[in-house]
Amino acid sequence: MSVLFTPLRLRGVETRNRVWVAPMCQYSADNQDGIPTDWHLVHLGSRAVGGAGLVMTEATSVTDDGRITPWDLGIYNDPQVAAFQPITRFIEAHGAVPAIQLAHAGRKASTNRPWMGGKPVAPADGGWDVRGPSAIAYNEGYPEPSAYSTEEVHGIIAAFAEGAQRAVRAGFRVIEIHSAHGYLLHQFLSPHTNLRDDEFGGSFAGRTKLTVEVAKAVRAVIPATMPLLVRISTSEYVEGGWDVEESVALATLLKDAGVDMIDCSSGGNLPHQALTVYPGYQVGFAREIRERAGIATGAVGLIVEPNHAEAVVAGQDADVVLLGREELRDPYWPMHAAKALGADHEWPVQYARAK
Ligand SMILES: Cc1cc2nc3c(=O)[nH]c(=O)nc-3n(C[C@H](O)[C@H](O)[C@H](O)COP(=O)(O)O)c2cc1C
Repeated sequence: MSVLFTPLRLRGVETRNRVWVAPMCQYSADNQDGIPTDWHLVHLGSRAVGGAGLVMTEATSVTDDGRITPWDLGIYNDPQVAAFQPITRFIEAHGAVPAIQLAHAGRKASTNRPWMGGKPVAPADGGWDVRGPSAIAYNEGYPEPSAYSTEEVHGIIAAFAEGAQRAVRAGFRVIEIHSAHGYLLHQFLSPHTNLRDDEFGGSFAGRTKLTVEVAKAVRAVIPATMPLLVRISTSEYVEGGWDVEESVALATLLKDAGVDMIDCSSGGNLPHQALTVYPGYQVGFAREIRERAGIATGAVGLIVEPNHAEAVVAGQDADVVLLGREELRDPYWPMHAAKALGADHEWPVQYARAK
């Protein structure tokens, strides 16, 4: 009996199984105005048809200057809301739960698409000035961000709350806050990138304040039935940096703030990180957060084999697995995995003759 193909309920939302599609930037808002296109409908829609329990959008920025590239999605205006509606409707019509990842790239904003080199884009070339917790560039060749004032940080919290309200109007059923991979909220968490001396810096309480306040502000404006997730980089793999101990403590604070699940990723904040990648390399983080903070977790990172995914949830390392690149290779992975695991899994009626 497969556990992977049993439903999971969080608040008022049930996903038909525990195979979720991880957030993945598509760099395909082709007018550079943050509005989803046909690409997003087909890309996200295919993964719903393919049988995933939940399909999450890429990092979707709550402000125009929080986009990683000028081709990223945004949720900071009404045309974006309207363009998301047919996408969420389609995902839901095909049995998956539509989720959005709310994000702000901070000092890592304003870069080029990966297939155009991925390097920073200067304001003169269509980019913009980047901002962050402190005036520290990500790496050589990256611009030095100007530090946000305390008042501006409060504005970021408000922008996340407004983005969440728009996401509800756009038809999303689950919200994830992106506090990982070296983007703005993670930049505030780390003592290497946050040298502030105001209420949003210094001690653990100060560095975590932005993520916790964003979670509280989002929770306050979304329906009580709507699950709220936070993605964190459980470790940044640098001596004296953000680590598992701080992640457990943050997860506990987030649980008290009304967060329902921690999506456990890692790395991305510091270019000299000592990261070793192997199948399931982040599963141990999901297990530790789940056990020690007493909150549901998602495991992500090189989970590609059905038996491995099954073992992660059956062994209670995590409550769900999120698949990234494997879902790009095969949007029908859930159908294939269900077959391999001998689980019952409905196919779209249109495809029944192929089952
Ligand atoms: C093309 C691509 C885009 C990604 N974009 C995002 C993103 O927008 N937000 C995020 O949190 N992670 C992003 N990631 C990371 C994935 O969500 C996932 O954590 C990572 O790829 C590891 O899982 P995998 O081994 O199953 O691919 C991206 C990964 C890829 C390959």
